[in-house]
Amino acid sequence: MNGPDPKAIYPLPFHQKMVFLKNTIQNPNIKVGDYTYYDDLEDPYNFEKNVLYHFDFIGDKLLIGKFCAIASGVKFIMNGGNHETKPISSYPFSIFGNGWERIADSVSYPVKGDTIVENDVWIGTEAVIMPGVRIGNGAVVATKAVVTKDVPDYAIVAGNPAAIVKMRFSEEQVLQLQSIAWWNWNLEKITRNLHLIHSADVEALAKCS
Ligand SMILES: CC(C)(COP(=O)(O)OP(=O)(O)OC[C@H]1O[C@@H](n2cnc3c(N)ncnc32)[C@H](O)[C@@H]1OP(=O)(O)O)[C@@H](O)C(=O)NCCC(=O)NCCS
Repeated sequence: MNGPDPKAIYPLPFHQKMVFLKNTIQNPNIKVGDYTYYDDLEDPYNFEKNVLYHFDFIGDKLLIGKFCAIASGVKFIMNGGNHETKPISSYPFSIFGNGWERIADSVSYPVKGDTIVENDVWIGTEAVIMPGVRIGNGAVVATKAVVTKDVPDYAIVAGNPAAIVKMRFSEEQVLQLQSIAWWNWNLEKITRNLHLIHSADVEALAKCS
């Protein structure tokens, strides 16, 4: 046996508040890797409702890797939520037409790019992720953090704006973990080496076959 079926919607059939996210997503601009789960206190199908201002005509993507754990009420603010801040007024006059489209040519809403959550990331309850950030492999985002900038691999970030409160491993170990990238191993190898993946012994993980 090599773990749960990655195609399952409910990996724990007795707990239908948790889903393997990839198998529930409808929006083609949201991509999720195997085994990443979302656990919602009310309804796990709320996930897409929590990806806010995500409009097809902008085309920005939310890309989430494998083996992530996303807690209830996490919100992703996408690029469609951005108004301009350089003009005197941030009010989006031109979208209302009726003569106000006369400034449309000079409007340029900020687009900060795709939002990327790499692999093995844990995002705590009600964290908010701003557009265009990359949350690195193995990172942890604390409860109610507001992530406004990229989060380095294996960092723990907290607060508003989220700042690093600790690193989970040394710089050298983080590089090793990046090259090991256990999340890309085949399932048999993952299962065989689970005791090492679930240890803090990076050296031993690097040596295993
Ligand atoms: C981020 C987290 C994992 C840190 O846990 P930890 O490694 O045991 O770290 P600590 O509790 O020692 O906290 C480290 C520092 O971060 C601060 N911190 C922790 N969580 C914080 C939060 N949510 N907001 C702001 N600061 C936070 C602590 O006050 C501490 O600050 P200090 O160094 O000035 O004393 C934990 O606080 C957290 O938020 N877990 C998420 C829980 C959750 O939402 N679960 C959902 C179900 S899966």
